[in-house]
Amino acid sequence: VSVADHRRMSFLGVEQLVAQLSSAVNVRALYVPGHPRVAEALERLVSTLAVVTEARSGTDVTFLLVGDDLVVDQRPLRKGKITLHHFITMLRRQAVERLTMARGLEPREVAAFVEAMVTGQTPRSSEHLIVGQIALAPASPPPDSSAGGPAPAGREAAPAPEIAALARKLDLLRDAFARLRDERKNGLGPVEEIVWKLIAALSDLPGGTIPLAALKNADEYLFVHSVNVALLTLAQGLSFGFQGPVLHAIGVAALLHDVGKLLLPRTVLEASGPLSETDWKIMMTHPQMGAAYLSELPDSSALSVVVAYEHHLRYDGMPAYPRLRRPRRPTLASQMTAISDAYDTLTSGRTEPPADVSAAALRLIAARAGTYYDPVLAENFRALLEGR
Ligand SMILES: [Fe+2]
Ligand SMILES: [Fe+2]
Repeated sequence: VSVADHRRMSFLGVEQLVAQLSSAVNVRALYVPGHPRVAEALERLVSTLAVVTEARSGTDVTFLLVGDDLVVDQRPLRKGKITLHHFITMLRRQAVERLTMARGLEPREVAAFVEAMVTGQTPRSSEHLIVGQIALAPASPPPDSSAGGPAPAGREAAPAPEIAALARKLDLLRDAFARLRDERKNGLGPVEEIVWKLIAALSDLPGGTIPLAALKNADEYLFVHSVNVALLTLAQGLSFGFQGPVLHAIGVAALLHDVGKLLLPRTVLEASGPLSETDWKIMMTHPQMGAAYLSELPDSSALSVVVAYEHHLRYDGMPAYPRLRRPRRPTLASQMTAISDAYDTLTSGRTEPPADVSAAALRLIAARAGTYYDPVLAENFRALLEGR
């Protein structure tokens, strides 16, 4: 392996470190400290660092925040990744301009840093994790600006500022979501506010492109799923001409469609692999659980209650869940949410090329038009995603 190869490989590892640290912070924002998911994220980061420093013959990894760039070894990291944006935003928020991770880093050191990032406290340096501020010398540009090399320009370009703005709003939403789970009765204020911002961000996106692929990098599945479903449903609503408070109510309802899952036992929600019959029965109660929960919140809308209850019902009224005594057609918002829900579920966690995954999901939705889904909504959804 040549020296150049070595450098390239360790650089990939560095990008992985960014993604994993950013993910550790997100996971911690959703779970209590010491939760297995948090511990797992910290372990993963520590073992990646061990591999990376090994590949760098023991050299520490130092991140420098230089303007809008995160620089490692005099090279800015490739832009265009939401995780990188999270990472930069997070460092900037806590005024961290330099972060060094050294061989021997221990999970508890990362845990302390992550905790500071989540709680907004000043992060402290420890033996293998040095937090600092740098004095910038603006006259020295990074020698190798391969970040925006000519070949894959489209893919590697910095994300549109509106997508970065959306990512920042998602940070706020993630916090609101975690609070909703932990302090159940605290109301929907933050969620309501963020959906307005999502609508604004979505309306500003060029050509209605939804940055779903980027969002999928995150770890916390239910949160990401909920945001994806909200964005997809808002896009449908916008395409039908909904605006203002009605569009907002649709977005909030879609965002909260699976809120009942937050009330299920963690063992069911976090089960890996297929659910047992008993667990599946519990899982199928999430529409009722969500509707009941939302109906008790003073500031939830009737539409949110309805969508939480109806989002697994079929268009043709054939049995689904919850079981209804008399079949009825779900409301429009529930039907739009159901399509977004199917699409996101079918496309998440897949390793095939995104275009293939998307096409397959749309085929399945089309095949279920008229039975599971309203054919008009299904066709509109396809047109929306394929750009006509
Ligand atoms: Fe659901
Ligand atoms: Fe769902």
